[in-house]
Amino acid sequence: MPATVLVGAQWGDEGKGKVTDYLAEQADMVVRYQGGSNAGHTVKIGEEEFKLHLVPSGIFYPGKTCVIGNGVVVDPGVLVGELRALQARGVDTSGLRLSLQAHIILPYHKDLDAAQEEMRGEDRIGTTQRGIGPAYIDKVGRTGIRVADFLDPEEFRRRLEICLKEKNKLLGLYGRPGYTVEAILEEYAGYSAVLQPLAVDTPPLIDAALKEKKKVLFEGAQGTLLDVDQGTYPFVTSSHPVAGGACVGAGVGPTRINKVIGVAKAYTTRVGEGPFPTEDKGAVGTALRERGGEFGTTTGRPRRCGWLDVVILRHAVRVNGLTGLALTKLDVLSGLERVRICTAYEYGEQRISDFPPSLKVLAGCRPVYEELPGWQEDIGGARTLDDLPPACRAYVRRVEELVGVPVVLIAVGPRRDQTISIGSVW
Ligand code: IMP
Repeated sequence: MPATVLVGAQWGDEGKGKVTDYLAEQADMVVRYQGGSNAGHTVKIGEEEFKLHLVPSGIFYPGKTCVIGNGVVVDPGVLVGELRALQARGVDTSGLRLSLQAHIILPYHKDLDAAQEEMRGEDRIGTTQRGIGPAYIDKVGRTGIRVADFLDPEEFRRRLEICLKEKNKLLGLYGRPGYTVEAILEEYAGYSAVLQPLAVDTPPLIDAALKEKKKVLFEGAQGTLLDVDQGTYPFVTSSHPVAGGACVGAGVGPTRINKVIGVAKAYTTRVGEGPFPTEDKGAVGTALRERGGEFGTTTGRPRRCGWLDVVILRHAVRVNGLTGLALTKLDVLSGLERVRICTAYEYGEQRISDFPPSLKVLAGCRPVYEELPGWQEDIGGARTLDDLPPACRAYVRRVEELVGVPVVLIAVGPRRDQTISIGSVW
């Protein structure tokens, strides 16, 4: 029963969509286990580009089962829009299943997300304003509405009546108008008809696939440093992108997982606020942003950019139990005279090699760099490790050494075929 978790090793946007799409060919089932439409997974097939927010990136292979697991918070309007857009472009979406236990995002979640960010002012988190935080707050606070409740008209109305009593008071505190039950029922009525046929009890479905020895890929959204426990709190998302989140968010036990692959860009990026030790606000950062097209898939915001940070990657190895690394966007580093890797931090007189839990310490950390020769060749056509120029290969080997896990896959361009497969991920 080969089950592999694919997890972002940095602050999200590592290219998980492309890697999932590549590996989905070998998988029988792809499962999203957390997050919501804050995620933006870009998949390029031939010359066509697709941007997914909720649908797992395995959808482009007909016949694969794609599961939106119980740990995801689902905006029904976004999901229906995404399904229609995929179908309009000829993608077969019949393999999609939605967990009856997943929570839904309601209009007041998005309003509260925006209102709370506005109130935080300078101290804002920089959320995607898709209602993610408020939806997870309701889930944990036991006032959320699940897909199963949403699809039962009587239960949906009853739950909304209960929730709106509190939500309208809360919105009033932020000077925002409230909602009537009827207005939400009217907006959401069209969505339930589309989602009803997809909604099933997903943990038994995944269990059956594993028992039949099918290959199941668990696709994480965001990244390790955006995990609410293991990330740069409070500048994090409200879910568990880390590998352990796959167990909770898909309903499978930890003993069923065989491998965990961390996806890491060959440099580092971050959107939203919070400390970022290798951030380069000068020429290098600008060059990486421009060459790498580093603008958010969901919000279009320019991403903050800097050199690869292996302090972060070692943290990702530890908290996820990584067995391998998928190194993406290596082509973006081509053409640089020298390339740098951050191997440790300096904090005052101290040298730190473990990612610090205190944000105040992290904000005061200065990166310690190791410099390697760059390479000038365009590597977009490389399909084996030997096709890479020696300096590029040396960079990959050094990353492996410093991180302590093997690089099993390298992406040298956005297209599906622009991938070097080195080791098995199963
Ligand atoms: P939220 O998930 O919208 O609440 O945003 C919380 C933090 O996570 C912000 O810094 C966002 O920019 C960041 N974030 C959320 N989703 C993604 C993603 O898919 N990629 C990168 N950053 C993300």
